[in-house]
Amino acid sequence: MRYFKHAFGAAMFIVALTALAWFILDTRFLLPVQAAEQAKPIDWLFNLQFKLMAVMFGLIAGLMLYSVIFFRRKRGDTSDGPHITGNTPLEIIWTAIPLAIVTGLALIGAQNLSETQRIDPRALEVKVTAMQWAWKFEYPAYEIVSDQLILPANQQIVFKLNSIDVIHSFWVPEWRVKQDAVPGIEQILRVTPSQAGEFKLVCAEICGAQHANMVATVKVVSEDEFKGWVAQQLTGAVAEDPAVRGEQVLRVNGCIACHSIDGTRLVGPTFQGAYGRQETLEDGSTITVDDAYILESIRQSTKKIVQGYPGVMPSYGEDVISDSQVADIIEYIKTLK
Ligand code: CUA
Repeated sequence: MRYFKHAFGAAMFIVALTALAWFILDTRFLLPVQAAEQAKPIDWLFNLQFKLMAVMFGLIAGLMLYSVIFFRRKRGDTSDGPHITGNTPLEIIWTAIPLAIVTGLALIGAQNLSETQRIDPRALEVKVTAMQWAWKFEYPAYEIVSDQLILPANQQIVFKLNSIDVIHSFWVPEWRVKQDAVPGIEQILRVTPSQAGEFKLVCAEICGAQHANMVATVKVVSEDEFKGWVAQQLTGAVAEDPAVRGEQVLRVNGCIACHSIDGTRLVGPTFQGAYGRQETLEDGSTITVDDAYILESIRQSTKKIVQGYPGVMPSYGEDVISDSQVADIIEYIKTLK
């Protein structure tokens, strides 16, 4: 009878603590909005694991708490507890059950992983270039280059990730999936955005001083809106005004992440008022910012560094920013008085 009372009491503790953890560990409260097809199997598995954790927590903490309260040592009792040696059936049970759970989770995990990587042959290709500290997006099907990621909803996107300097990581939390961008290797990430809206792409790999600011806007729109955006990009791709083209080149290549256009001091010197400015270099000599200096600073970025700034800018060859684009950039900088 006493044994039954304790078993019942301990069971109540276990149930109560399990219920509490079950409620707190619900993915609906813990995870951001679910905005991609690939997020569904991931969230489902997360939820299953959280629920298993809740049961384990209730079982362990419930028994422990019950024992601490009802089986404490009585005042003045200095005797040892009963000496208990092995219990073979119990040991078999507590080895077999966790083994079955872990094996089951591994199988479900493998199945889920293949689900998130399933290939849709009609996927829209987007090339992503990561750099210190900006993102650049290219749509080879339309020959569009953009600093914003605009995507149609309910279509698989195949991201081909690359980096021009160090390792970065492509991550939109609402999509759950994440992939490193590694210099010299093309990494693949497949995402089917299932919800329209505006999201934030963040870099999830510490990559230098401005890592925290390496963000880009992601807009998921309807298919019609996407077609409208493509058409608009195609007609507006080559602007008449060289200064407008120059600004586009700077934005697309992430230059303004480090060189402000309004005089703010960032990682590099501001573009505002830069043209014709006298600058003191690291070695104490002075130069005037002219066409030749701007071209040289793009091609061999660390050759002549303005005093007080870190020489962290990558060099850009003609394959990335052409000579005529440099001329456009110069025209744009001239307008920033
Ligand atoms: Cu790029 Cu952190």
